[in-house]
Order: sequence, then structure tokens, then C-alpha cells
Amino acid sequence: MAKKKAKQVKAKAAAKKPARKAGKPAAAKKANGNAVPKPSGKPYGQAGRALDGLRILDFTHVQSGPTCTQLLAYMGADVIKVERPGAGDITRGQLRDVPNADSLYFTMLNGSKRSITIDSKHPKGMDILNRLIKTCDVLVENFAPGALDRMGLTWEYVHKHNPRMIVASVKGFGPGPYEDCKVYENVAQCAGGSASTTGFREGPPLVTGAQIGDSGTGLHLALGIMAALYQRNRTGRGQKVLCAMQDGVLNLARVKLRDQQRIEKGPLTEYSQYGEGVPFGKAVPRAGNDSGGGQPGWIVKCKGAPEDPDAYLYFITQAPVWNEICDVIGEPTWKTDPGYATPKARLPKLKAIFARIEQFTMTMTKFEAMDLFNKHDIPCGPILSMKEIAEEQSLRATGTVVEVDHPTRGKYLTVGNPIKLSDSPARVERSPLLGEHTEEILSKVLGYKASEINEIKASGAITAPKKEEKAA
Ligand code: COA
Repeated sequence: MAKKKAKQVKAKAAAKKPARKAGKPAAAKKANGNAVPKPSGKPYGQAGRALDGLRILDFTHVQSGPTCTQLLAYMGADVIKVERPGAGDITRGQLRDVPNADSLYFTMLNGSKRSITIDSKHPKGMDILNRLIKTCDVLVENFAPGALDRMGLTWEYVHKHNPRMIVASVKGFGPGPYEDCKVYENVAQCAGGSASTTGFREGPPLVTGAQIGDSGTGLHLALGIMAALYQRNRTGRGQKVLCAMQDGVLNLARVKLRDQQRIEKGPLTEYSQYGEGVPFGKAVPRAGNDSGGGQPGWIVKCKGAPEDPDAYLYFITQAPVWNEICDVIGEPTWKTDPGYATPKARLPKLKAIFARIEQFTMTMTKFEAMDLFNKHDIPCGPILSMKEIAEEQSLRATGTVVEVDHPTRGKYLTVGNPIKLSDSPARVERSPLLGEHTEEILSKVLGYKASEINEIKASGAITAPKKEEKAA
């Protein structure tokens, strides 16, 4: 009886699914409304990848969207990147280090994907897209506002052709006065509150090297897609997922909105500005290298600084290990001196305390300092240059930094999957050449016959326009 019911559930699920292979539960039963199979008996790491069976129609370009879809590809999704014939993602040709080869900008954001060239404004191109829409689970895009609609791919259109499709977008701003604006990384950092709170008090606002606007929003989008897929298991229908870069940056800068509310009630005592006696204004100030939390921290020089621009250590005067700090740096009287013994008493003296710590750390390299302080459980971290990170063997061993080979540019380093899943080994492969998989996708995924493919080729829907035509 139970078997019969399970069979019916399976048959129902299969009927709803697009005609393609997908991981099917061995014996489905209901848990929280979702079908969950019996636990796999396969050894961990040999039960496929987390997102096997998921197909993404990837309309992303530049950085924010590609970060999202690359991550999904690393986790096993079949990501089909649609690019304009003859041109492709603009980053293929940006910041090139090897002549005529795809740039690192492109290759490091588009690994493990397949590339198909389609002119979405060509009627035959639209036919191909229609088939792709029917066979994919998620459409991801980060065009300028309105561009997808201008292609004819409105939510209503996509949803009508595939009600299960999730349409995920990155935009610069959410609904409001700036919603129609094009946005790049640093604009988002500025509009999301990061730039205003980064840098030194006496200097201008600063943007950070970490791409919190682009890659940060790509990460938010990936999470939104996963949630929408999970809900689809219950509802059977897709939904729109929107991540605005301003919102993504603000989410990462939320501690500063915390401080904005605190500043209205009094000074921010953990900011070194407080200890220096500099009054606070109405908005959260830039705090240099102050730590964002309740444990004061600062960057101190080590042996070699400042000639070596990275010979620095981030040092945190964590209250629970204050006694250990005093002993290690050679100031044992600070343990009991009422002017130093409590975090509150130390606040006005932080600048002098860090100067004393620096005097000590300048006698050793940042790595020696790291070893020494960690022996005493004192939190600190060396400032690692990108060169040091690229050469760090432990990051290679964990697959966080991966070397891949590329047919036109040779070997390059990329950042692998920073999210480690114990039953889903990451698939970190090179990025595709422009249109490398066009024919493969047309025939194997969409079922076009060879004669039809030839017709499409001749129509110009998947090939670059001829030079004369361009000029005309
Ligand atoms: N076939 C035909 N046309 C295509 C195509 C294809 N395969 N792929 C893209 N296009 C067209 C689009 O339809 C659009 O045309 P339209 O404006 O005539 O409708 C055009 O290419 C360019 O799209 P757009 O997104 O406007 O590119 P842009 O280079 O002018 O702007 C951004 C780039 C990043 C500023 C903009 O896309 C944006 O603001 N995106 C949202 C925020 C974002 O993700 N920013 C971070 C980027 S890292």
C-alpha cells in the first residue's frame, strides 16, 4: 500500500518536471511539505553534487550576476551562459593580461559554466530562448533596469511559458528614486553606507578592495534562489528574486546602522575618536582600523614595515586575555593598574596602548607575532598580501584557491568554492570559450536536428554579424 502511494507521488513529480534527468528520490515521503528521499547509503562525497539536476539560464554579465551563477555551477548546477554572438560578456576583453585570450576578469567569474551564443533580438534567437525557458529552473540576470523586458522576457512572459521558473535579478537599487540607474561596484559601496564609514576620519570616504557590492550581492542572490527553489518544492511555482546592490551592501554594513542609532544616545566609546577626545557629529564617522565589535583592535607594524607594505598585524585587545597581553608585551603592571585593568579604563588610552604593542611587534615578523600571540590565545591576524594568499598551500589544499588550465590562456588561479559541503565535492573547472557549447546545447539539451542547427546558423541568430552587415 505504502509502496503504491510512493509510486504515485513519484509519477506526479515526474509529470511536473521538465523532460530531463534529475535526481529522483528513491522512496519519497513528506517532511515539512517537501519530498525527502531515504538517506543515501553511498559514502559521503559520492552521492553526486548538491545541485545536480538544476539547470540555470544564465543571462548575467560583468561581476555580480556571474558570481552567483559560478557558485551554483561549483555546486553542480548546469549553468548555460547566454552571450551575444561575436561579443559575449564584456569582461572577456577587459583588463586582458594575455593578448587575444579571455581575461582573468572573465575566467575567474565564469568557471564551470557552458556558453551558448544567442542574439536575443533575433526571431530565431527568441525561439531558442523559448526552449531554454521551458527546460531551465532559474533565469538569472543582472542587466540594466528594463533591458530584460525590452528583450521581451518579462516576468509574465517567462512565467507563462514556464510557471516553475524562478527569475532572479541583481539591480543597483530597489524600487524608489534610483531604481532606473545603472550601477557598478563602487556606486553600491557608496550608496549602501560602506564608503561613508570606511577610511580615516580626517580623509575622504573610501571604497574597499573586497567587492561587496558585486560579489556580495551575487551571494545574496544565490541564497535567494535556493530559498525560492525550496519553496517551489511546496508550491510548484517559481517567483521573482530581486537583490539590489544597495541593499546587499547595507546588509553587510549593518553594524554601522547599529552605530547610527547608538550615536543618537551618546558617543561611540569603542571608536578611537572617543579616546582622543574628538567630538562625534550626527552620522557614524569613519573609524580607520578600529574593530567593528566591542573588543578594541588596530593594525600595528611588524618587522619590515613600513618599507614592506604588508608587514602589519591586526591586534585585538580582547578583554578576557588582557593579562596575557600585558605579560607577553612586557607590561605586567597594567594587569592591576586601575588605569589599565578594565576595558572602560583603557578606552581613552587605546592609542597609547596600541603604540606600546606596536613597539613590541616591530621586533618580529607578522608570522612570528601570530605564532607567539596565538600560543596565549590572543586574537590577531597577519595582513596577508595577495601574493602570499596566491602562494598559500593550505588554501590550495582546501580548494579555496584552485589552478585550472585554459585552452587559450594556459594555467590560471581562481577562487574555488568557499562554501564546503561534506557530501558535495566542488566542481571548479575553467570558463568556457565564447559559444563553446552552442551546438552541444542546441542538439543535446534542446533537441534541435543538425539541419535545423544549420538553418539557425545561416540566419545569424547564433553567429556574429558579418563585418559588411555591421557597417551597413
Ligand atoms: N543578444 C542581444 N542583445 C543582448 C544580449 C544578447 N544575447 N545580451 C545583452 N544584450 C543587450 C541588452 O538587451 C541591452 O540592450 P538594450 O539596452 O538595447 O535593451 C544591452 O545588451 C546592454 O545591457 P546593459 O545591462 O544595459 O549593459 P551596460 O553595459 O550598458 O550596463 C551595467 C552594464 C552593469 C551597468 C548594467 O547592466 C547594470 O546596471 N546592471 C544591474 C546592476 C549590476 O549588476 N551591476 C553590477 C555589474 S558588475
